[in-house]
Amino acid sequence: MKNRKIYIPPIKSQGIKSKLIEWIASNIADIEYEKWIEPFMGTGVVAFNIRPKKALLCDTNPHLINFYNAIKNKNITSAIVRKYLTQEGEKLLKSKGEYYYEVRQRFNETGNSLDFLFLSRSCFNGMMRFNQKGGFNVPFCRKPNRFAPALITKITNQVENISQIIEFGDYEFKTQNFTETLKEVSSNDLIYSDPPYIGRHTDYFNSWTEKDELLLKDGLYKSKAKFILSTWLSNKYRTNEYIFTIWKDCFAATKEHFYHIGGKEKNRNAIYEALLSNYPLPNSITNKELAERITENKSRLTTKQKEKIIIVQPTLF
Ligand SMILES: C[S@@+](CC[C@H](N)C(=O)[O-])C[C@H]1O[C@@H](n2cnc3c(N)ncnc32)[C@H](O)[C@@H]1O
Repeated sequence: MKNRKIYIPPIKSQGIKSKLIEWIASNIADIEYEKWIEPFMGTGVVAFNIRPKKALLCDTNPHLINFYNAIKNKNITSAIVRKYLTQEGEKLLKSKGEYYYEVRQRFNETGNSLDFLFLSRSCFNGMMRFNQKGGFNVPFCRKPNRFAPALITKITNQVENISQIIEFGDYEFKTQNFTETLKEVSSNDLIYSDPPYIGRHTDYFNSWTEKDELLLKDGLYKSKAKFILSTWLSNKYRTNEYIFTIWKDCFAATKEHFYHIGGKEKNRNAIYEALLSNYPLPNSITNKELAERITENKSRLTTKQKEKIIIVQPTLF
């Protein structure tokens, strides 16, 4: 299969699924549906690359939804972004970085979508984190010359690409809890669900408990629509037991994914990603079979092994 070009949205987030798009796309290629529904859209990277004709994209974080609605309504365009980042980038440079904290305070008072973009692209590690009062609290990346012309061009191109994708589709963006979104689903829709992981990345918009996971399961099954759910299967230390309890009736497709701690090759760790669904996917097996594989210590990959395996030295990403 030819590699597809992945469109990266201008807003950054630690939970972004850009590296899994191709895999998700290959697993849903043959499914027909009326509307694509995402109760947890995050950066929107999955929908913007799958590019359904119609979509309902929701999240409890109003800043994400406001940002994409501003693009949809043309209150934010690539030209506006270029002008804004050039002006604000100069102030940041002149202040030796102090101006970041002025913008952060302004954003926490007004919720301005351009300021949200500025913070997302100049905060530490491109993180998205909000304090107990819902205020953005990530510190500065400590590079006063953050908005050099090349980065501004990159961001404006990202805004332009996403605005074209939104313009050619019939997309609705809503700030709402997943329970409300699931009430809007029809049986011929397809739901892509990417909830926060239980016990990880907790902040104002991202607390997630077993109770939420159970509510999600109920809502997904009650919708009678086809659904796929992104989660993790295992890492070096743990296996995600919820796959075999709450989601035991699902099918699972798995994919191995490597990351490096501190960029060192010896600290190379594998995580197995899982796509759960209520119908068979091209690369899936039942969760019961998956549990047997794990018990028997077979591969955790659900794709059939190719006869000839060529081992390629992995590169750092
Ligand atoms: C793992 S992220 C989604 C990432 C997204 N697929 C992407 O690639 O950018 C989970 C998202 O769920 C949202 N969220 C958390 N709790 C929620 C809830 N109860 N209802 C709806 N959205 C929620 C968070 O704000 C966050 O954007």
